[in-house]
Amino acid sequence: MLDLAAGSGSLTATLVGLGHRVVAAEPSQQMLDRLVSSLPGTPGVASAAESLPFRGGSFDVVTVATAFHWFDAEVALAEIRRVLRPFGRLALVWNTRVGEQGWTQALSTLLRSVRPTGLAGDWGAGSAHALAQSDLFEDVEYTEFSHSQTLDRAGLRGLVASRSYVSALSQEERAEVMALVDQLYADAVRSEPDAAVVLPYVTQCWRATRRP
Ligand SMILES: C[S@@+](CC[C@H](N)C(=O)[O-])C[C@H]1O[C@@H](n2cnc3c(N)ncnc32)[C@H](O)[C@@H]1O
Repeated sequence: MLDLAAGSGSLTATLVGLGHRVVAAEPSQQMLDRLVSSLPGTPGVASAAESLPFRGGSFDVVTVATAFHWFDAEVALAEIRRVLRPFGRLALVWNTRVGEQGWTQALSTLLRSVRPTGLAGDWGAGSAHALAQSDLFEDVEYTEFSHSQTLDRAGLRGLVASRSYVSALSQEERAEVMALVDQLYADAVRSEPDAAVVLPYVTQCWRATRRP
């Protein structure tokens, strides 16, 4: 399998854990270094989706998690088709936070204050229409799964700190954001002392088959 736009390897680790032979491709050398150090047996290749350094027909499956909206879709789909074997599969996944009420809305407002240009609306999943309309793939299927993440204070801090636009802030700016996160967590727990701090998500999944 090729896990494309693998980042620091969240999905890659799951695929490897399921027993698949996975190659990870990611344009950011910093992310790739983190991936390779946490998954030492997994080859990591510095590459963008629009120009893949693999021979034609190299992979049974290509996965793209929460990243297809960054691609030049037409060019990337042609490259993905090239590196897939005949009838190979492409899977696009977006894991999106939902539920804009109460403290989850306050969290969204806080994150948008750090990155006002952040994705709104469909959070990128709308770009999957390029797959649905592509002549290069067929049998496009869709499904979605609801799930949630229960977080303590350290977990919520970790979630915010892992955002690339937060880690890119200066130390002082990051400390300010983290102080706001701590306040938000304290408010959420105080207003509902028995409630866990739960973040709802939906995972949207598309699957398609490479046309022969
Ligand atoms: C939100 S992260 C998702 C990382 C990982 N797939 C995951 O689910 O944790 C988006 C990733 O897309 C990568 N990316 C952005 N543009 C890309 C492109 N044109 N080709 C390949 N990867 C790209 C970024 O470097 C980043 O690692």
